Amino acid sequence: MVIESMDVLLKIARECALKLKKSDKVLIVSHIDADGLCSAGIACRALERAGVETDVMFVKQLDENALDEVLSRNPETVLFTDLGSGMQDEITSRGLDAVIADHHMPQGSGCRYHLNPHVAGFDGGEELSGSSTTYLLARELGLNFDLVTLAVVGSVGDLQDSRNRRLIGLNREIMLEGVKGGFIELIRDLRMFGKQTRPIFRMLQYSSDPSIPGITGNEEGCLRFLKELDVPLKDGEKWRRWIDLEFEEKKRIVSGLVKIAIESGLNPHAINRLVGEVYILLNEEEGTELRDAMEFSTLLNATARYGHEDIGLKICLGDRDTALKKAIRLLSEHRRNLAEGLTLVKENGIERLDNIQYFHAGNRIRETIVGIVAGMSLPIGDSSKPIVAFAEKDDGVKVSARGTQELIRRGLNLAKAINHAAREVGGVGGGHNIAAGATIPKGKEEEFLMILDRLIEKQLKKG
Ligand code: C5P
Ligand code: C5P
Ligand code: ZN
Repeated sequence: MVIESMDVLLKIARECALKLKKSDKVLIVSHIDADGLCSAGIACRALERAGVETDVMFVKQLDENALDEVLSRNPETVLFTDLGSGMQDEITSRGLDAVIADHHMPQGSGCRYHLNPHVAGFDGGEELSGSSTTYLLARELGLNFDLVTLAVVGSVGDLQDSRNRRLIGLNREIMLEGVKGGFIELIRDLRMFGKQTRPIFRMLQYSSDPSIPGITGNEEGCLRFLKELDVPLKDGEKWRRWIDLEFEEKKRIVSGLVKIAIESGLNPHAINRLVGEVYILLNEEEGTELRDAMEFSTLLNATARYGHEDIGLKICLGDRDTALKKAIRLLSEHRRNLAEGLTLVKENGIERLDNIQYFHAGNRIRETIVGIVAGMSLPIGDSSKPIVAFAEKDDGVKVSARGTQELIRRGLNLAKAINHAAREVGGVGGGHNIAAGATIPKGKEEEFLMILDRLIEKQLKKG
């Protein structure tokens, strides 16, 4: 049993920082999601300020091929952020001079410079994101307090605030540093997307967590609801957004939503999810996608998951001009893809095995967003079973799995099960107890499912 220790983590962060400062040039290797982009942004800025030159490379997953590509660049030192902990043996065996700042479940051992919450007894699934881990490193590299905003966007991007509707653990301590420093404002508010940017009725229409009968997906219902509450939709020619409303109007809307939710029999747990903590980035312009950490992270996901990591990274590094304009265009495409993905799952249904449920998207959902769709599909399936999604990719089949807190309480550890089952069929995988992924060879899906079904049965029996 490892004892939770902040001192242990900070000591490792200090050692990693010293190691990096000794290099002239560092190759940063990071993950293509919001957390990975924020991690790379933090690392870039902090190293640059410490006088170290950087290069950045993004990968969908750190497998043997990706590591070979890293090696072929012949780097002096490599900093892996938001990935690496699952591939320590492979990194070491290639003789790479490496530092890892990651929050995934460690596999193997051997990297001398390994900063990871699990090593000190913390949970990388919700207490410390990849970008928060990298922020701890940045703090040891110099005066980098302003980078705290990226740490928070990364944590929210990885849904580390999802279960409690607020950041917890070390993520929280880091976020509170940002509040003290005047970079972040913490408010209690509706946890819906688009509070900064969308007309109110659209924000309500696109709400999904929880799904509210008569409101979610129902434009007419939303318009009627606002009319009944006497909330004007427009101010002159301009659509009013949530941030434009008076406090009293917001209160009427929240009470109205709660009333509908109760009347339509939603359980109290789901109703509670309507409101929670929201993180406002004070240095960003009001009414933009960047002002609210939830919207910022979605904007980032809309770039790198579609091969435009350069755009996402530029935004993390402060570009509010060309890169931002491009990202906003990508965002509407991303939203459309997620909506279409969810419709596909609803239409084709989710297959059930004894202990898991799954769907195969073939080539109809991009492998880089199938995990998000899997997470969004959990409420429409059988919540007593983890969900597994497949999508085709060039070099095999992408697997994404998502669980619930209730299943974790019963012993579920998707990272372990997915890693094990993937290896058995000649693939690689890992992640967190609540969310994990893998790549397996084409045609191995059935075998993989059978193995996984048995492994999960064992986990749930033991738990
Ligand atoms: O690779 P990484 O750690 O950055 O990704 C974490 C993944 O876990 C994200 O895709 C996030 O959506 C997922 N997650 C989840 N539910 C949670 C926490 C995380 O689906 N409660
Ligand atoms: O890709 P997806 O969103 O399903 O990934 C869920 C979690 O599993 C993420 O934290 C991701 O980094 C991790 N993962 C992994 N190895 C893979 C694929 C995903 O560790 N091959
Ligand atoms: Zn992450």
